Amino acid sequence: MSRGTLLDLIYLIAATTFIIALKGLGSPKRARMGNVVAAAGMTLAIVATFFHQTSDGHSLRHIPLILLGMFIGAIVAVPAARFMQITAMPQLVAIFNGVGGGAAALVSITEFVHIHAEKPATYVTLEVLLGVLIGTVSFSGSAIAYAKLQELMTGRPITYPGQQIINALFALTAVALIVIILITASTPLLWVLLAVSFVLGIIFVLPIGGADVPVLISLLNSFTGLAVAASGFTLGNNLLIVAGTLVGASGILLTRMMSAAMGRSLANVLFSAFGSVVASSSAEREDGRTVRSGTPEDIGVLLAYSGKVVIIPGYGLAVAQAQHVIRELADELEAKGVEVLYAIHPVAGRMPGHMNVLLAEANIPYEKLKEMDEANSELTTADVALVVGANDTVNPAAKTDPGSPIYGMPIINAGDAENVVFLKRSMRPGFAGVENDLLFDPKTVLLFGDAKDTLTKLLAAVKAS
Ligand code: TAP
Repeated sequence: MSRGTLLDLIYLIAATTFIIALKGLGSPKRARMGNVVAAAGMTLAIVATFFHQTSDGHSLRHIPLILLGMFIGAIVAVPAARFMQITAMPQLVAIFNGVGGGAAALVSITEFVHIHAEKPATYVTLEVLLGVLIGTVSFSGSAIAYAKLQELMTGRPITYPGQQIINALFALTAVALIVIILITASTPLLWVLLAVSFVLGIIFVLPIGGADVPVLISLLNSFTGLAVAASGFTLGNNLLIVAGTLVGASGILLTRMMSAAMGRSLANVLFSAFGSVVASSSAEREDGRTVRSGTPEDIGVLLAYSGKVVIIPGYGLAVAQAQHVIRELADELEAKGVEVLYAIHPVAGRMPGHMNVLLAEANIPYEKLKEMDEANSELTTADVALVVGANDTVNPAAKTDPGSPIYGMPIINAGDAENVVFLKRSMRPGFAGVENDLLFDPKTVLLFGDAKDTLTKLLAAVKAS
């Protein structure tokens, strides 16, 4: 077997591991296995690439430089991934995705220069230019997404008059440049395309609010996949084509699923500057209804004497890092014979699978996590819905108020339980900035405070009951 055939065979094995890995990532139970399989496939592919030979018989050159690059990448990325807070996961994904897009753009630029040196002014392929455009948009867009999430700049949508028109003009300019470069193979215009793509990535992301950024990151991730696939065509590398296409396709599917679970279209997420207005909320409404707040002792007794408690976690659980104490509370309740389940909304938190990751960290058994439909049927027979740092995902306005920004979003029907307990710090609304009527429902009681503190107090109260 020739060296080239062996390499292709190894790439085929690696591509197969990526597909198995994606399947694994579809369920929390198999996600870790999925990651390990993909990492093994990627390691195999990287090692094999060192033995790559070009069609004219050249071996891989600049090996020490490549190893140095890998070493620098590893010493930056490994501690960043190991020591980041789980709440900072979206920005980590953003920055890793951005450098992926940037790398794909650099590959395309290098190839352009090579092609130009060999066959001047005659031959520039479309995929090289698409690699530059998409990779650069992904790079600069991800950098802004990172800055928004890391609070290096405002997370609010940044809008100005004529914004959509200016964005459209930049996009059209990029397309026009690609057409002209295809005809003229002009190198100076390549640098103009690079600059236009860079600005396009920035201005595309500016109007998107911080809390919508996870959806955007998933979209940019899909762009990076396409840029990588374009590099694969440029370099004639089958593995890059397969891996890039897998990332491109899964990224766009995830983006669609996230927007659908938020009850919004992708266009609405990208262009509506959602989250620019935040409604204020107070404990007393204009109609005179007030919220009822309780003490940890009262609520502890309520929980301890319940038959079934459904815990509904949300973004506040991640902020408070209360996953371990929630597990302790659940263990204590179960020891008293209470059935405890967890209702998982697909967009609870700020990234896909946010709640699953948090609860898995506290070793909460997967079978206790119920997806929305199943959770809703459990809630009809629950004594208590314990809402921990969730708000929009249990807001009945999504079903009842056509004027609400979250109208149409499927929700967890916390209000179907006999009693509803909210753990939150204040009357501030959630991500969508809309008031939650359920807080004012007579069956609802609020326990104000950081979820980790209030859960610790509840645990003590349950132990004492
Ligand atoms: P949210 O509606 O954002 O509500 C979070 C609640 O947690 C707030 O009411 C907040 O109230 C409370 N909170 C914050 N810190 C807390 C702490 N330390 N202790 C106790 N409570 C705390 O959360 P959700 O129900 O999970 O909904 C998620 C929202 O994000 C949805 O609108 C969804 O569309 C959006 N979104 C989700 C994703 C993904 S993929 N998950 C992506 C983009 C957007 P206080 O400030 O009063 O404490």
